[in-house]
Amino acid sequence: MNDSPILVLDSGVGGLPYLEAIRERLPYERLEYLADSGHFPYGLKSRGEVERIVRLVVGRAVAELRPKLVVVACNTASQAALAALRADHPELPVVGTVPAIKPAAESTKTRVIGVLATAAAVRDPYLDELVARHARGVRVVRKGAQELVAFVEKRLFDATEEERRAACAEAVAPLVEAGADRVVLACTHFLHVAAELAEAAGPGVETVDSRDGVARRVEYLLKERNALASGPLPPARGRLRVTGAEPDATMARFAERFGLEPGPTLGDLDP
Ligand code: DGL
Repeated sequence: MNDSPILVLDSGVGGLPYLEAIRERLPYERLEYLADSGHFPYGLKSRGEVERIVRLVVGRAVAELRPKLVVVACNTASQAALAALRADHPELPVVGTVPAIKPAAESTKTRVIGVLATAAAVRDPYLDELVARHARGVRVVRKGAQELVAFVEKRLFDATEEERRAACAEAVAPLVEAGADRVVLACTHFLHVAAELAEAAGPGVETVDSRDGVARRVEYLLKERNALASGPLPPARGRLRVTGAEPDATMARFAERFGLEPGPTLGDLDP
């Protein structure tokens, strides 16, 4: 059990910065990363469709990889499918990704925070609840930035410096114009361009994400179950797998950047 892997998944490469945070905290754990490229992007699908897909993909991955814990490193998937996943796998701890509204609302000085998310997540009632609970008296400006998701997934390595800057500037402009001094990265893909987003937003604006909270929660749940990997072992190199077609060259570069071996495609999923 202790040597079973932790499964980290997203619609694409967005969960990789979360995997990195987990690896920093728990260097002896075996990590399996799954990019559901076959169904990318989640942010343009309905809540029900995302729930159906994520249940299917996690069900298949759990049967094949037998993880001891699952991290849904995707806000859109967490909002749509977390409750169903926990019902599907009552024996398995499932950690979701929650937009970091609370720390942003607690630290803003201008009393305006921006939320950058997918087209689906930005209008999800779950976000309304988080705002009502944690951002009283703070103005929350939302921006669905689906183009930036596609940019990170497909163009991050090939784009010029200028294209990267333009993609980030377009995403943060309405938030900055509204006076936000905190930008919540409520889509995991945006962590890949956090520095560029902060730079595009200008001095005094900080990005906020939920990486640390997720990694801490993983550690807590494994400790509680006495399921941490037993060290000291050589830190394990994780694997990156995709659904659908074989991993393309961009995916291979992401795997390399995050120190992962490309693994076999997770097949047999319905279209
Ligand atoms: N990375 C995902 C999120 O955090 C979703 C990106 C997409 O597939 O649209 O919401």
